Amino acid sequence: MDRIVVRGGRRLKGTVRIGGAKNAALPIMAAALLGDSPSRIRNVPRVADIRTMADILSALGARVEFPSPHEVVIDPRGLGNPTAPYELVRKMRASICVLGPLLGSLGRARISLPGGCAIGARPIDLHIKGMERLGASMRLSHGFVVARGDRMRGGEVFLGGRFGSSVLATANVLMAAVKTPGVTRIEGAASEPEMADLAEFLKKMGARIGGMCTHSLRVEGVRRLAGASHTLIPDRIEAGTYMIAAAITGGELELKGARPDHLGAVIDLIEAAGVSVGALRGGLRVSGAGRRRVVDLATHPYPGFPTDLQAQMIALLTLCPGISVVTEKVFPERFLHVPELNRMAARISIEGSSAIIRGVRGLSGAPVMASDLRASAALVLAGLVARGETVVDRVYHLDRGYENLEGKLRKVGALIERVG
Ligand code: UD1
Repeated sequence: MDRIVVRGGRRLKGTVRIGGAKNAALPIMAAALLGDSPSRIRNVPRVADIRTMADILSALGARVEFPSPHEVVIDPRGLGNPTAPYELVRKMRASICVLGPLLGSLGRARISLPGGCAIGARPIDLHIKGMERLGASMRLSHGFVVARGDRMRGGEVFLGGRFGSSVLATANVLMAAVKTPGVTRIEGAASEPEMADLAEFLKKMGARIGGMCTHSLRVEGVRRLAGASHTLIPDRIEAGTYMIAAAITGGELELKGARPDHLGAVIDLIEAAGVSVGALRGGLRVSGAGRRRVVDLATHPYPGFPTDLQAQMIALLTLCPGISVVTEKVFPERFLHVPELNRMAARISIEGSSAIIRGVRGLSGAPVMASDLRASAALVLAGLVARGETVVDRVYHLDRGYENLEGKLRKVGALIERVG
């Protein structure tokens, strides 16, 4: 099994190109099933989750081809099988987002209950409630969600859950509604940029959607959708991870393609921690040369600080003098990186859904274990500044969502390599 070996102490300097957003690519690939002709999606990151989604779409009967490394063409005309099998779904929780397109296209779906990141219980009650509000019948049978939608009609759906709105439940209900007769209103909809990108793609296919980028979507069902061409938005989580890489190493990076308008809360907090961030034409410049300050933060749905950058931000705060408190409001148990960072001589304790971080003068390299995608990134970031060598095991988590992380970091000066 691959491991990543990092030797800390290098200030990063140079340019990193930010790829397309994985979390936009996944629902958009699924949405291609709703067309009656092929769709072409560009700026697709080369990460394992995209391969898994391609395998799921193929299992359902679609034809999926990658004519070039960052481009996928999906021909949905062979779609016929409504079953997304456990062997594929268990690799990636986001597989659940074929539910909406299958109901919209075939009127039925049978999806294994998802697996994915080890970040606490991840229910799908909002997905189920949303489909029921559109008239689908939903039941659980032998580990599968079985959905029938012969008599679906537009309806009113509220998707705000205990932890805020759900991103993929919004994607699912939206994708189910675009070909369902009548008008659907989704209140409490997630407004993440990836959802706006999905809505944009669906509109190119011929869908009628109002209220994009808001918490209140209005969908008017149409009879048919055609395939469309679309270029994905850049990955704001990848961009945020490299912003923190510049900050933690006291380096200076230019992030080509990063969109400051998608990163408001992140820029605000990183600046508050003493890092300077400036807009460039077509990107961002981050300089970590200044004095560090502690910050307190809580994760929230967009436009709040993203849970997907919480672990990386904690890695940075381990080295800020003083005490900071990070509260996780989206996935309250998402702290598996904390014991690993403590093995690297960080001083972090957990109180309920908050991490209390006492800044230390330095981290110490150690063998550590990746537990989920973003936690793994946090361990690599910590390794970039730790004394000596850090070996990150279970790198397959990283490969789910970061394209060539070690190559991109090496190009800007990091001492990092992958070993088999
Ligand atoms: C998506 C992102 C993931 C990110 C997360 C939150 C993709 C592919 N993944 O995941 O990277 O960390 O948004 O920004 O886009 N919940 C329920 N019931 C449900 C669904 C969710 O209670 O039916 C809860 C979850 O347990 C969590 C919160 O709602 O506490 C938000 O989860 P959600 O937005 O659904 O996450 P995902 O869409 O799975």
